[in-house]
Amino acid sequence: MGTALSLDHLWLPFTPNRDFKSEPRLFARAEGVHYFTPEGRKLLDGSSGLFCVPLGHGRREIADAVHQQLLTLDYTPSFTRAHPKAFELATRVTEFTPPGLDRVFFTNSGSEAVDTAMKIALAYHRVRGEGQRTMFVSRERAYHGVNMGGVALSGLVKNRESFGAGVPGVVHMRHTHLPENRFARGMPEKGGELADDFARLGALHGFANIAAVFIEPIAGSTGCLPPPRGYLERVRELCDEHGILLVFDEVITGWGRTGHNFAAQAFGVTPDLITMAKALTNGTQPMGAVAVKRAIHDAIVERGPRHAPEFFHGYTYSAHPAACAAGLATLALYDAERSFEKARALAPYFEERVFSLCDLPAVADVRCYGLLAGVDVHAKSGQPGLAGHEIQKRLFDTGLHVKATGDSLLLAPAFVFERAQLDEMVAILRDVLGAFA
Ligand SMILES: Cc1ncc(COP(=O)(O)O)c(C=O)c1O
Repeated sequence: MGTALSLDHLWLPFTPNRDFKSEPRLFARAEGVHYFTPEGRKLLDGSSGLFCVPLGHGRREIADAVHQQLLTLDYTPSFTRAHPKAFELATRVTEFTPPGLDRVFFTNSGSEAVDTAMKIALAYHRVRGEGQRTMFVSRERAYHGVNMGGVALSGLVKNRESFGAGVPGVVHMRHTHLPENRFARGMPEKGGELADDFARLGALHGFANIAAVFIEPIAGSTGCLPPPRGYLERVRELCDEHGILLVFDEVITGWGRTGHNFAAQAFGVTPDLITMAKALTNGTQPMGAVAVKRAIHDAIVERGPRHAPEFFHGYTYSAHPAACAAGLATLALYDAERSFEKARALAPYFEERVFSLCDLPAVADVRCYGLLAGVDVHAKSGQPGLAGHEIQKRLFDTGLHVKATGDSLLLAPAFVFERAQLDEMVAILRDVLGAFA
């Protein structure tokens, strides 16, 4: 690292700052499925950055599109003005979403997509004369980003405890991680009935007061928890029965991670709204989106005076031209390279390799779906998260970048991984986990 680089001024997000600054681990360059440190050391990217980069790093097609866009139209306001690529990208997104979810609102992140979806749900019920529907249901162990709505929806204690009640009226269903499903491959057989926890909350708080249920079809950041069989179907049924909107937060599971466009298609359950981000631009530009069923959009937009916005919400950078250019180039590559088919084809081998780690004493559980896996390590007594933190540092030093949440390691290889690179990833994990006491 250059001696002139001061680490003092930057406050890093979701990072133990003092620990990081005492032994910083930096990336200076990325190419394909590798990162490089400032000293030139090469690391395999085992988590697609943060689940963002399924096409691999440094894709010239995307970089060129962004460069060209910035020289042509660098910025346009997104309120009462627009640019052609915003419409083009919205249309392209709807070629991937499940039928019916064909209206798209752009944001700059997954967190903004989640809070936008909450506001769409509230506005929708209000225009239909059901303004009493102000409550939301989510789940324990959920992660829905870091804006105040998303924090209230989240079910991760550390993400909530410093911030008070957040948005009121959010209640949480039980999570679906049952001890008897440890080491289950794919969708667990047990636990579909946990969806009835939603019925319990509905009975307690009044179904008629609930605006929407937010669900990650596979809980991602908390450690990859695929839904038990029948679970999502039952939640869908209860939503239909009681006029409640179902939102799938697909910020991680969207764009091929399951081997299908969205997890909605992988699991055959269609929500009313989908939130997405990350792989929408292959991680190259900050961008999120909410795909919405047309009837919900129309209920809000097809009313009121024509001179006034129908939905008082939006971001200075909604549909930023550079992000739209990146999104269009990314989606073109997904089509041209049949990326999601590749992910689907690679998934069984990935699963086999990841489950080969089960014999290691340090490993407490393994879960996997598509090209996403969670490997739990045994927590150090009284110090949750310490083992995961130490291990991700050792992995970095051994040549593998992996995202850890607490004591779960999250593997999410790019769809362009070769089998040999999966082997290498698992070999590094075996070395590091095998030596970890
Ligand atoms: C399911 C889910 N929702 C929302 C978010 C927040 O996205 P962002 O970090 O882009 O705000 C994430 C981020 O990992 C996520 O996994």
